[in-house]
Amino acid sequence: MAFPRPVYYPPFNITRAGHMVLSVRDLARSRDFYTNVIGLVVSDEDADTIYLRGLEEIGHHSLVLEKTTGQPECCRIGLRVLTDEELEKAARHFTSIGLAPRWAEVPFQGRTLHVADPFGVPYELCASMTRVDRAIMKSMHHAGGAPLRFDHLQLHMTEIAKVCDFYTSLGFRTSDYLVAGPSEDLVGVFMHRKDIPWDLVFLRGSGPRMHHFAYVVSTAQDMFRACDCAGLFKFGPLVEHGPGRHGMGHVQFTYFRDPDGHRLELVLDAPHLMTDVENEPVRWDPEKRRNAIDWGNPPPRRWYDDATHFPGIEPKIMPMTPGRVALEDYLATFSR
Ligand SMILES: [Fe+2]
Repeated sequence: MAFPRPVYYPPFNITRAGHMVLSVRDLARSRDFYTNVIGLVVSDEDADTIYLRGLEEIGHHSLVLEKTTGQPECCRIGLRVLTDEELEKAARHFTSIGLAPRWAEVPFQGRTLHVADPFGVPYELCASMTRVDRAIMKSMHHAGGAPLRFDHLQLHMTEIAKVCDFYTSLGFRTSDYLVAGPSEDLVGVFMHRKDIPWDLVFLRGSGPRMHHFAYVVSTAQDMFRACDCAGLFKFGPLVEHGPGRHGMGHVQFTYFRDPDGHRLELVLDAPHLMTDVENEPVRWDPEKRRNAIDWGNPPPRRWYDDATHFPGIEPKIMPMTPGRVALEDYLATFSR
């Protein structure tokens, strides 16, 4: 398989994946979960919206929760660009390739551009937000997992090769990719703009859907404290998978489901930088993945099956990728 060459000089400068906008049914319950269990800080709130951020973040928000009476959805994914000039370039580029960008007024953000990618995933791009104090110095207020900053997100998509081509054309570089099946189809790509291996992760599955978004914590103990707080605040069953270690990516993790089913991952900081050109995409076939040093039980079946929908997008159904093992099947092998 010929892997697309990186585009070092893209049409405009995306710097990182920066925030999520999710809808939830009960703002008070979500606030309880995200502040007491995960440990995010509230930057602002009203009767319909809560704006949250990690402890070291100086931008106003990395998670926006909007009240809904309908199904909870992933309303938009936030990408940061370097300057407003890059936003202008982005608008021109998206228009030139047949997308339909439009300018939007968004509270606590600078000029903001809304656009859906060719697969229907809704994004909002901005270069700046209202500046707030870093909460990292106020240790007496740290709670739950004490997350530092927004890190990455993962989407389920049906046509990974096309997705990889599109995001490569926007300047995203690939740290790792997965192949599966007799024809070694591309079934996953880990793509980044910032200097670590991931901003946007795309895995083959029924989609487009948002599988999870992730915050970095300082230590593994922070993850355990988040799990303890989940138990303390009666969210214990929402600890879905982990703590464990990803073999691919070599990072420790814990996955939680929020009260509306949106999935959040706490991870330790990335194990290495991706800045230099020597960092070419690493290919992972099933054999190499079997030899990775992950540990812990496989995830429950719902970890593979469940994901958050985008507004107005009916996901295309895909069968589970061969070689993936769910906890229920793994445990069944012991009773035979
Ligand atoms: Fe992740």
